[in-house]
Order: sequence, then C-alpha cells, then structure tokens
Amino acid sequence: MAHIAFFGAGYAGLVSGACLAELGHTVVVRDVVPERIAALQAGKMPFHEPGLGELVAKNAERLSFTLSMEEAVAGSEFLFVCVGTPPTPSGDADLSNVWSVIESLPQDLGPAVLVMKSTVPVGTGEKVRAALDARGLGHLGYASCPEFLAEGSAVRDFMDSDRVVVGSFEDADGDRVEALHGPLGAPVVRMDVPSAEMVKLAANAYLATRISFINEIANVCELVGADVEDVARGMGLDNRIGTHYLRAGLGFGGSCYPKDMSFLKLLAGNSGYHFHLVSSVIEVNDLQMRRPVTKVQKHLGSLRGKRIALLGLAFKPNTDDMREAPSIVLAARFLAEGAEVVAWDPIADARGILRGAEIVDTAAEALSGADAAVVVTEWPELRELPWGELRDTMRTPLVIDGRNHLDADALRTAGFAYEGMGRAASPFGSLPETQQPERKLLSE
Ligand code: UGA
Repeated sequence: MAHIAFFGAGYAGLVSGACLAELGHTVVVRDVVPERIAALQAGKMPFHEPGLGELVAKNAERLSFTLSMEEAVAGSEFLFVCVGTPPTPSGDADLSNVWSVIESLPQDLGPAVLVMKSTVPVGTGEKVRAALDARGLGHLGYASCPEFLAEGSAVRDFMDSDRVVVGSFEDADGDRVEALHGPLGAPVVRMDVPSAEMVKLAANAYLATRISFINEIANVCELVGADVEDVARGMGLDNRIGTHYLRAGLGFGGSCYPKDMSFLKLLAGNSGYHFHLVSSVIEVNDLQMRRPVTKVQKHLGSLRGKRIALLGLAFKPNTDDMREAPSIVLAARFLAEGAEVVAWDPIADARGILRGAEIVDTAAEALSGADAAVVVTEWPELRELPWGELRDTMRTPLVIDGRNHLDADALRTAGFAYEGMGRAASPFGSLPETQQPERKLLSE
C-alpha cells in the first residue's frame, strides 16, 4: 500500500483522497486554509457531498489533514495536485495555486510521482516538468490524471470510474499511476501528457454541447408544438446517441462546465483557432437561463411589483454549490424587471449571493403570496410538496418548471397554470387574466 499526499481539500482532493484511503492507502490531505483543515480534523466536511463524511470517518486511521507541506510529503510516493484553477478576469485558467504547490515542494523529495488532477490548459504539464527539472527535482515523475467526478455522485464516480486517463512523459511514471488505480477495475487509457490534459476539456465540452443542443431543440419544440421529453427519449434510445445529458432545462452551471468551456475557447483562440461551436454552446447556455423571465411575462405582463418564488438555488440537486448557478442570473433578471424575488433551497446558502432577493427557509414560505413559482433546481422534495394546498396561498397559481421536474398533469388538475421547458404540446395555461400568446407555426 502506498503513502499519498493530496494538495487541495476541495471536491477533487477530498473525494479522491478518501477513496484511495478506502482502497487501503495512507493519505495525507494538505490545504492552506486553516479553518478548512481544522474543520476536517474535527470530522466536519467543508461542503455537502453524499457519502463523503461517512467515507472520511470510516478511513480515519489512514486519512489525515494538515497545513504542513513537510508532513504531507514525508514518505509519499504520489503527490496529487488538486488545487483550484479558477478563471482569471480574461477567462483563462489562473494557475497560481498550482505554481505555489510546485514552488513550495521541498528539495529533498524521494522518487515520487507528481500527479496533476487540477484542470489545467494543455501545455501546463510540459511547463511544470521544465520547472521541476530547473529546480533540481528531475527525479520526480510527472503524470496527468484528470478527474471526472460530478458533484453529488463524486464518491460513486471515483469508486466506479468509467475509465482512468493517465498521461505521462515516461512510461514508468504512467505505470505507477495505472497500478495505483488498478483495484478500481476501470479501463486505464494511457497517452502523452498534452492529450490527457485535452481529454478533460474535451469531455466536459462535449457534455455541455449536448446540454445546449437539447435546450435548442426544446426551444424549437415550443414553437412547433413538439415535446422535448419525448424527443429526447426517442433520440436517446439510439445506441449511437445515448440518453444521458439530454435533459432540457435552464442550462448548465457549476464550477466546471462554464469555466472549462471558457478555458477551451481561449486555449483554442490563444493558439490561433476560433472554436465556433464552443462559443455557440456558451451563448445558448447564457440565454437559456433567462427564459423563465419571458415565460412569466407572457402570463403576467409587467413584472413590476410581482412576487416571484425561485425554488432550488444550487446549480444542481444534491449539492450546496452555488457557483455559476442559473438561479443567480435568474434572480438578477427578475429583479431588473422590477419583481420581488423570494428564494428557497433545502441546503445551499444563497445569502450574500442572490443580492436583493429574500431568502426563506421553506418552499411553502416562498410560495406564500407569490405570483409565480419557478423551479430552478430539480430537488426531489419539490415533487413531494402538497401543491394542491399550496395553490391557495399563492397570489397567482402559476408554475414555470425550469427543469421539467414536476408532474404537469397533476399540477394542471390542481388548478395551476403550468409551463415546462420545450413542452408546447401542453397548453399555455389557463390564468383568467392571462394574455394567451399566439402560437406561431413555422409554416405560417
Ligand atoms: C462535471 C462533469 O460531469 C464531471 O465529469 C467533471 O469531472 C466535473 O464537471 C469537473 O470538471 O470537475 P458537475 O459540474 O458536478 O460535473 O455536474 P454535472 O452533473 O455534469 O452537471 C452540470 C450542469 O449541467 C448542472 O447545472 C446540470 O443541471 C446541467 N445538466 C446536466 C443539464 O442541464 N442537463 C443534463 O442533461 C445534464
């Protein structure tokens, strides 16, 4: 069993570290934020991730947390870099956290392999290799091993990986990283370092492209009277297409797709290539998040003084992560139209993020007195709400389901005007004061 150091106690570092401890290795996770390390030492997770707290507790004997670089690297055979690479104001990757790890590595390291898990622009590995050599750390191996963990299912994604990608300059370094992941039983795909760095950006860009694609199909469905849920099912059962990542809605948010799409676009641009498709995917996504505003206006006219309830604020369910969440854009747009915004999420703390919005503790509070409810994140509990009872507490019984998550028929039967995304096959609702929009057909 190996000794392993992780730099960065974020999603990638904590989840991968805890999972490798579960496989029997001794893992030290080092971070530079004292509060984060103190909390972890006290058994508190810094974010909500299903199963992570249990895994950390179960492997406490083999898993420790420290602020000290020396303690982390002592006897370690693998040094995993899992620090954040947020976007700079220009949209490129800010690698200062990566460089600060590299620069603070002690001189007297054994023959360990440095494994890059942080998402970095293609070409970074070569620069890090050169910097290590220049520092007299030529004996340190280097490998790129991008992470493919989705928030909310990160532990399962690691333990049950579809594949492990390993890029290395030297075969021997790649062999060691491959052997470390062997017990997972996942296919290991070996390649050079730039290709491994590219796999990460390309995989995220492809998934984001599917999302923008189905969202555009949804928007056309609304105009021509088709239902995107049926269309996605009909398309997805073709084995060449697959059903995953075809959920139409309010687009993608989170700490990965928006940032990685920008990284890829700028990486291409900085290298002299205009990546048209990626630019379009970003633009479609930016506009998709705003669509509920027009949908509500269609029913209520001017939004000045109207009370809009946003239900679900995290960028997706099963996480408390608010980074790049569509709720932030939506709240700002509704406020700009003169509406009052009241917002609820079961676990994400949006205070200070949804500026100008009233944050409440229950969905029922959000709905009380509201003119419209907008489902922003498909939390399962939203399906369990007693919608029939809550209807009477609303000023106007209008639901815009941004994730096609609720039971449309049940809501309509309960007297709501209900509108989803890309579901024009369903009528536009029945509010007495509603101005029914004209349905335009392309043939008209
Ligand atoms: C994503 C990838 O799924 C991971 O493989 C990758 O490792 C990670 O980024 C990363 O780069 O670190 P994550 O951002 O946690 O993980 O979330 P996803 O589950 O992929 O969802 C991203 C966004 O797309 C969410 O806002 C979700 O609501 C949206 N989405 C997803 C859709 O709108 N429709 C879909 O069909 C699927």
